[in-house]
Amino acid sequence: MGFAPDWLSLRAPADRAARDAGLLARALALGPEQIVDLGAGTGATLRAMKAAQPLRARWTLVDNDPALLALAPRLEGRVTCIQADLTDLGALPLHGASLVTASALLDLVSDAWLGGLVARLAEHGLPFYAALSYDGAMSWTPPDPADADVTHAFNADQRSDKGFGPALGPDGATRAARLFQAAGYTVELAQSPWVLGPQDRALQAELLDGIAAAATRAGYSGSPAWLAARHAALGHAQALIGHIDLLAVPPEAPERKAHG
Ligand SMILES: C[S@@+](CC[C@H](N)C(=O)[O-])C[C@H]1O[C@@H](n2cnc3c(N)ncnc32)[C@H](O)[C@@H]1O
Repeated sequence: MGFAPDWLSLRAPADRAARDAGLLARALALGPEQIVDLGAGTGATLRAMKAAQPLRARWTLVDNDPALLALAPRLEGRVTCIQADLTDLGALPLHGASLVTASALLDLVSDAWLGGLVARLAEHGLPFYAALSYDGAMSWTPPDPADADVTHAFNADQRSDKGFGPALGPDGATRAARLFQAAGYTVELAQSPWVLGPQDRALQAELLDGIAAAATRAGYSGSPAWLAARHAALGHAQALIGHIDLLAVPPEAPERKAHG
């Protein structure tokens, strides 16, 4: 699966449908004028926020993959793309920001990196909206006896290093919630599962391949049989892949208006 443009565009409709509308609306209601999107890819968060409400905000999209950033919308000059490595927290372009966002990112990062991010955002009094963090829950209809073992192995692989140190995987969003709360933020979480049916056959097929490969990497030997059975059921199977959206809002602090 990785971060290939084809994969990001294949998953985009499911992401759009899954995002929690209430949390998205509350993030927009903060009235951000300058939004910094971390791990922006091709601009999924920008598209989702723009589709929910016409915004005059300026955007800074940060990603280390210039090929993905090249596919992001430009909004008539209101979008700046920055190719940068997010692991350098000190270099995050927070100057002038009023909201920081991310999607499908918190499951990739380590506890140490997340702690550092929360400290930086708290230092600047910045709200954070992070959608679509995988939460470890997967289920299929019809069920297969190997589903639980595959999910267990996949989740173990999700905790391997994705460039930020050992990844939080399914704990990313809930860990972020605890860290922001400890920093005095008000935090809201919402479930945002992918609910996939036979009409999502291409996404389901690609997803199954990625899940089986990850489970094999984690040492599970039954992936090929599970994958064959799941592919055979694609014409009628449903899948539920759990995600969590998070909105963290700092306490009112007028003196924090100037972000450095
Ligand atoms: C799962 S994709 C999500 C992309 C986009 N936010 C979306 O929802 O479609 C994760 C993104 O994080 C970026 N990324 C991963 N590690 C990174 C790093 N160390 N520095 C900058 N970007 C990184 C990838 O290039 C990719 O675009």
